[in-house]
Amino acid sequence: MNPRAAAHRILGEVRRGALSDRAASRILPAVDPADRGLALDIAFGCLRLRARLDTWIRACADRPPSRMDRAVRDWLRIGAYQLTELRTPDHAAVGETVGAARSALGRGRAGYVNAVLRALARIRDTDSGAGPNALAGGGPFPDPDVDPVGHLCSWGSHPEWLVRRWLARWALADVRRLVEHQNRPPVVVVRMLTDEDPAPPDGVELEPVPGWPRSFRLEKGLPATALSHLRAVIQDPAASAVVDYAGGRLEEPVLDVCAAPGTKTLGLAAEYGLPVVALDISHRRLARLGAPARRLELPVSAAVADARRLPVAAAGTVLADVPCTGTGVLRRRADARWRLEQRGLDDLVVLQREIVDACAAAVRRGGLLVYSTCSLEREENEEQVDAFLDRRSDYRREPPPAGARSDCVTSRGDLFMRPWLTGTDGAYAARLRRIA
Ligand SMILES: C[S@@+](CC[C@H](N)C(=O)[O-])C[C@H]1O[C@@H](n2cnc3c(N)ncnc32)[C@H](O)[C@@H]1O
Repeated sequence: MNPRAAAHRILGEVRRGALSDRAASRILPAVDPADRGLALDIAFGCLRLRARLDTWIRACADRPPSRMDRAVRDWLRIGAYQLTELRTPDHAAVGETVGAARSALGRGRAGYVNAVLRALARIRDTDSGAGPNALAGGGPFPDPDVDPVGHLCSWGSHPEWLVRRWLARWALADVRRLVEHQNRPPVVVVRMLTDEDPAPPDGVELEPVPGWPRSFRLEKGLPATALSHLRAVIQDPAASAVVDYAGGRLEEPVLDVCAAPGTKTLGLAAEYGLPVVALDISHRRLARLGAPARRLELPVSAAVADARRLPVAAAGTVLADVPCTGTGVLRRRADARWRLEQRGLDDLVVLQREIVDACAAAVRRGGLLVYSTCSLEREENEEQVDAFLDRRSDYRREPPPAGARSDCVTSRGDLFMRPWLTGTDGAYAARLRRIA
């Protein structure tokens, strides 16, 4: 399948409710391996930068994208992404896109796509301000100094409610850097489970991630090829930091109650040299833990369970890496920002409270409960933990373990990774000791 047609199919499936990763893994096998990277880049770029691309399209079409035929709009986004972000030569970006669109749309509607994309190429060239991957002003975008929210929502391509809540909390310059970070394609990071330097196989190149000693960015090659030769997992430094933050010595038995797909489970078992029981409500997701656990020969067992009704008491250590909005990992989930809404956040806070309360009952006196998220939102993080400690006087917050990076620890002692400072995903964790 033509890579642009594949990107269009992915956008169509996501529009109809599919998750972007799953849509991509269904459609990409039909694309020539040499073209898969381009198809994925275009599809995920169109999802991440949807609002930016629509602002360009709005500036040269006769109607707003919201009033366009959806299939036509997706073709326009695909063309606009190539013209403004990939800087594909105009003749290829317009010609190839219109060519692929013609067989799906027919001549008339493909002619419309052609006219709008040609106009876009013209206005892009008269605009000097808005370069690729920079939060610059100019072109059809609001002036960032006059209308920072409008700019972050259009050029920054984030939903307004998220932009407003972040601006109420952090400086404009930080929110800009956060938005910019979430708009870049994510990197793949290999976390070594030993102290040895990795010896990658032919065709794989790894670069150390500064500041994160056992983390290496995959520069070349496939993750599966890298892992087949290394004692390692694919894990962003933020997720590794949560594993490290659990502490210097863990009490057994160790339970990971929202474990799937299990990279933190593997990290816990390898780092602390202990058996770990992995529980998750999703059988399908949990099944992904089996093969890497066998490859690494780690003592991990898995079972399906609802963390709100744990079939365990007297655990020594419980990790609750709860379901969350994932606002710290938006760059990894191309379509996620457009699915999130305040109500979803509120519902997740309730679910997290139920899970943390059930976990509290499963930990024995003296044991440790580690609560973590990949969210940046207070309600899911420190406010959730503060409210828990108000309910449970038999728990207290434990200080960070030795070796925790001070720039990633809050005034309360919790781990908090801010992507615009660390260059990693966002993550939060708190250590809660049962004292009675
Ligand atoms: C943030 S992910 C966990 C990621 C995992 N810890 C890792 O590092 O690979 C949250 C997980 O919680 C699971 N989950 C959601 N509701 C649950 C519940 N009530 N009980 C147990 N697991 C649940 C989801 O299936 C999902 O796998």
